[in-house]
Amino acid sequence: MHLAKRVSKLQPSATLALSRQAQQLAQSGQDVIDLSIGQPDFTTPRVIKDAAISAINDGSASFYTPANGLPALREAISQHIYQQNGVTYSPDQIAVTNGAKYALASVFNLILNAGDNVLIPVPYWVSYVEQVRLAEGEPILVPSQSGFKVTVDELEAARTDKTRAIILNSPQNPTGVVYSKQELTLIGNWAVQHQILIIADDIYRDLVYNGTNFTSMISIDPAITANTILISGVSKTYAMTGWRIGYVAGPAKFMQTFSAYLSHTTGNPATVSQYAAIAAYTVDQGIVETMRQAFETRLNRLYPLIAAIPGFDLDEKPTGAFYLFPKIKRTVELLNYATTDDFAAALLAETGVAIVPGRAFGMPEYARISYAKDLESLEEAANRMQAFVTKTMI
Ligand SMILES: Cc1ncc(COP(=O)(O)O)c(C=O)c1O
Repeated sequence: MHLAKRVSKLQPSATLALSRQAQQLAQSGQDVIDLSIGQPDFTTPRVIKDAAISAINDGSASFYTPANGLPALREAISQHIYQQNGVTYSPDQIAVTNGAKYALASVFNLILNAGDNVLIPVPYWVSYVEQVRLAEGEPILVPSQSGFKVTVDELEAARTDKTRAIILNSPQNPTGVVYSKQELTLIGNWAVQHQILIIADDIYRDLVYNGTNFTSMISIDPAITANTILISGVSKTYAMTGWRIGYVAGPAKFMQTFSAYLSHTTGNPATVSQYAAIAAYTVDQGIVETMRQAFETRLNRLYPLIAAIPGFDLDEKPTGAFYLFPKIKRTVELLNYATTDDFAAALLAETGVAIVPGRAFGMPEYARISYAKDLESLEEAANRMQAFVTKTMI
């Protein structure tokens, strides 16, 4: 079978592959604690599910919607963005997509010509690199020297006349770091100065902890807003990963083309999910706060346990998303594993604890540990990891 050049090196998502492996082990009867997951462990709040059930029962979920989403949903998103950021996007400047993942993949398809560069700070969410390649762009990986956040100097060193866009994810998967307003302002002004489009992936924006303030790139300055495409969705905030609703908000002209693109690719995302998302954005947001607090408690409990594992080096405590990203190079070397992947495979086989080797995020000496799990499982997983490392070291 002949495959197009642009897909010849396509790799499946490493995080999804690992979750599958953990699930298979669990199905075969092993006591697995899966910390490889990238989704809340809560089920979708009742009030959102009820809205979906009503939409099914009254028949409104039976039909196509406009390709860019129900007007009522785009209105609700518009209001929500305004409430959170003080920035106005008209409903026509918003398109609803099959998850933020498809929003991102579509943006790259719309903005890139073959060989155009996209700056991707390291570590990065697994799909960015493959999505840019699928759009025939060239991902330019930008490592950061300090604390997982890129600086303007680091970006400037990577800039060429082919640099078309930068993707900025805050709070960040896999590290949980959150960019400050000041850091974003510097990057935003630099991007405007060089006409480099900013793609702001704010999917974890509601999950920040211990008093951290979140600032979105769109809320800093009108010139930066006009140069930014906002990506977000309901998956992480409302425990709705399975419903597949994300969105894009951006300049009107760009969004016109974006909607036309959707009309020929996916058409509208599932209508029932759109009705659920209207409820998510319009009901009392206390449902979000309850889940946020649970994640905060878990972070505060798990962080010291992971930091205490011999050879697991953690930088500052993260302030967002639901991941820890320790450097585990010392452990891997002390235990004589050739790679972090080998260590993670042995850990899973012997203890049933699944974590994701950092290679998937461009930092092979690290591993991602998700704390989207109940406290008891997190403590048990930390104990098993500690015992595994200590026992093997002796
Ligand atoms: C950084 C980041 N962006 C985007 C997504 C996509 O989210 P979804 O497609 O569920 O909306 C994810 C999901 O894991 C993510 O971690």
